[in-house]
Amino acid sequence: MSQVLITGASKGLGLEFVTQYLARGDHVIATARDLENASKLHALNKKYLDKLKLFSLDVSKDQSRKEFFLSVSKKCKAIDIFINNAGIRSGGDKDSYTLGEMYSEDIEQVFRVNSIAPVLLSELFIDLIEKGKNPRIINITSGLASLSKKTFVFRYSYCASKTALNMFSKLMALELKEKNIIVIPLHPGHVRTDLGGIGAPLSPQESIQGMIKVIDSLSMDDTGRYLDWQRNELPW
Ligand SMILES: NC(=O)c1ccc[n+]([C@@H]2O[C@H](COP(=O)([O-])OP(=O)(O)OC[C@H]3O[C@@H](n4cnc5c(N)ncnc54)[C@H](OP(=O)(O)O)[C@@H]3O)[C@@H](O)[C@H]2O)c1
Repeated sequence: MSQVLITGASKGLGLEFVTQYLARGDHVIATARDLENASKLHALNKKYLDKLKLFSLDVSKDQSRKEFFLSVSKKCKAIDIFINNAGIRSGGDKDSYTLGEMYSEDIEQVFRVNSIAPVLLSELFIDLIEKGKNPRIINITSGLASLSKKTFVFRYSYCASKTALNMFSKLMALELKEKNIIVIPLHPGHVRTDLGGIGAPLSPQESIQGMIKVIDSLSMDDTGRYLDWQRNELPW
């Protein structure tokens, strides 16, 4: 049995992580921005009772991260698997901005959620993570982060924010090696969620089954590797 923490669990991949970890008997801390209206998480809470603890968290806000940390640390002494999953594809009304239409609030919000929050949250929780069994920090990245595979123009902010997340993951992996904490950026594949779109080839169930298998298999030899849901190594 592991203690797992998952951000951005109201829907999509986060919700499916929660569902599958609970189904196999793990304990889960799950977060949602609008917790009151996160009806699927409340339904799981009725079924799994104290195995699932729910918290409100906007990962982009300093105060929200601090309050979340204080609330969790009152109830939990160690975290084995810390999954930075919350993410956005755009900070504005349009799905993708390219040259001629870029604006700073889009870029800043995408970076706040996708790149900066995973580092600051992991930093807050590091003592609890260090006390976990085979502790792992999993930063949900994207194949679109790869610089060497970039051949088409699409979502500047999103792609760059995930490339930054990959670098943060690599640096954290190097620094946390001495604490025996594994850190990887993990790509879920292209999945049918609000973010991935209805035309994506993978279901959330398939992607999460694959990612849980990868997370289970990780050892210190894997720290800092850029992997996907099938354990393929991706080019930076
Ligand atoms: N789907 C894909 O094909 C794909 C591919 C590569 C990588 N990814 C990555 O996978 C992760 C999950 O994405 P998804 O496909 O499941 O997307 P999704 O269905 O849109 O879910 C995103 C989740 O992130 C939460 N979130 C957004 N902004 C937040 C904030 N400021 N604070 C806290 N939570 C916030 C959302 O909560 P609300 O309900 O409050 O908005 C939601 O729970 C993301 O990091 C994404 O970049 C997805």
